Amino acid sequence: MEDFESAFAEQLRAVPERFRDESRFVPGAGRWDAAVVFVGEAPGSEEVEQGQPFVGPAGRRLDGFLDEVGIDRDDVYLTNLVKVRSPENRDPTREEMDAWRPLLDAELERVDPAVVVCLGAFASRELLGESGPLSELRGRTYEVDDHLVLPTFHPAATFYDDSITPMLERDLRVAADLGADS
Ligand code: URA
Repeated sequence: MEDFESAFAEQLRAVPERFRDESRFVPGAGRWDAAVVFVGEAPGSEEVEQGQPFVGPAGRRLDGFLDEVGIDRDDVYLTNLVKVRSPENRDPTREEMDAWRPLLDAELERVDPAVVVCLGAFASRELLGESGPLSELRGRTYEVDDHLVLPTFHPAATFYDDSITPMLERDLRVAADLGADS
C-alpha cells in the first residue's frame, strides 16, 4: 500500500518551510478506502512520539466512543487539520490551518469517504467555512465540496464536560450509519 509521504509528496512539498517540522509531524493514517474520515485539530505529544494520530488520551477516549457505536478503528481514516504539533499545544493559527489545508483536501479527495466527521470547533468551522459556535453547527450533516460533513465535539472536550457525551455519541452513531450505508 502506498504510504502517506508518497501519496501526498506534492502537497507536502507545497507546505511552506516555516510550518514544517519533521520532529513534530504526524501524518494521517488509516484505510485509503474508508467510509468514515475523522478530522481533528493537531497532534499531541503521544501522537508525535508514536507518529500516529489519535493515540494519546483523546484518541483513547475516541476509541471508547467508536466501540460504543460499532465503528472499527481499523476501518476508518484519521487525520488532523494541522499536521505538526504546536508549541505548548496551543490552538492552531489561521496561517497554520491555511498552510496545511491543501494537504487535508488532497486526503479527503483520495479517500473520498461517505462522511467526514469533524472533531471539535476548529475542524468543524474550517471544513464548513463557518464561524458560529459548535453547539449551533452540530446536530446535522452538511454537503460541502461533494462530501457529507458532520461536525461534532472533540473527544477531549468530554474530559471537562461530561454532559456533551450523549451528543457526541449520537453524532457518531449518525456517522456509523452513513458509513455503513455507503
Ligand atoms: N487531538 C487531535 O485533535 N488530534 C490528535 O491526533 C490527537 C489529539
